[in-house]
Amino acid sequence: MFIALEGVDGSGKTTQAARLAEALGEETLLVREPGGTVAGERIRELLKDGEVRLDPMAELLLFLAARAQLVAEVIRPAMEAGRDVVCDRFSDSSVAYQGSARGLGAERVEELCDLATGGLWPGLTVLLRIHPELAAERMDAQGRTADRFEGEGMELQRRVAEGYEEVASLHPERVRVVDASVDPDRVHLAVMAAVAAVRA
Ligand code: TMP
Repeated sequence: MFIALEGVDGSGKTTQAARLAEALGEETLLVREPGGTVAGERIRELLKDGEVRLDPMAELLLFLAARAQLVAEVIRPAMEAGRDVVCDRFSDSSVAYQGSARGLGAERVEELCDLATGGLWPGLTVLLRIHPELAAERMDAQGRTADRFEGEGMELQRRVAEGYEEVASLHPERVRVVDASVDPDRVHLAVMAAVAAVRA
């Protein structure tokens, strides 16, 4: 099964993706976006660099290039081999960040994601829902240094959160929302319950 974890910056999705992959067993492939391939990791550096100016469409196309490579080189072969795949972000990130928050349009971005991935969408997307303010407090408490997106401040994160809510209401068949404001053990249990519900 192909599962993506989504949420605003600081929602805890990286921790939860790792815990989920571990719980699903050692055959499970864990990947992160952007990244996961040599080309993807280089594109990631460019995208996260606060010094680099990018037009929203250029930004989107870089994310899509990294994703196209990840799908072709890593995700599809793993799925064909029958492995579970857990992805720390996937196309719904582009829809929420570039489509909604950056204003390129959710529907248009969805279509471009579809093109870049050859029509691959997760069987389950777990949306970790948390107030962007609380997520930012957590990142401060962890002493994380802000990247290009986090450094843009609260307004962007609020728009991203709204974008994710739109994604969840448009795709109830594959998106499950989990409350990520509680402690990580409880979030993990809720993520596992969402996976079990889809697998049943
Ligand atoms: P992260 O790995 O720390 O989540 O960083 C990735 C950043 O890139 C994060 O701020 C979200 C952003 N992003 C997009 O804007 N669009 C995308 O399609 C993806 C995958 C990530």
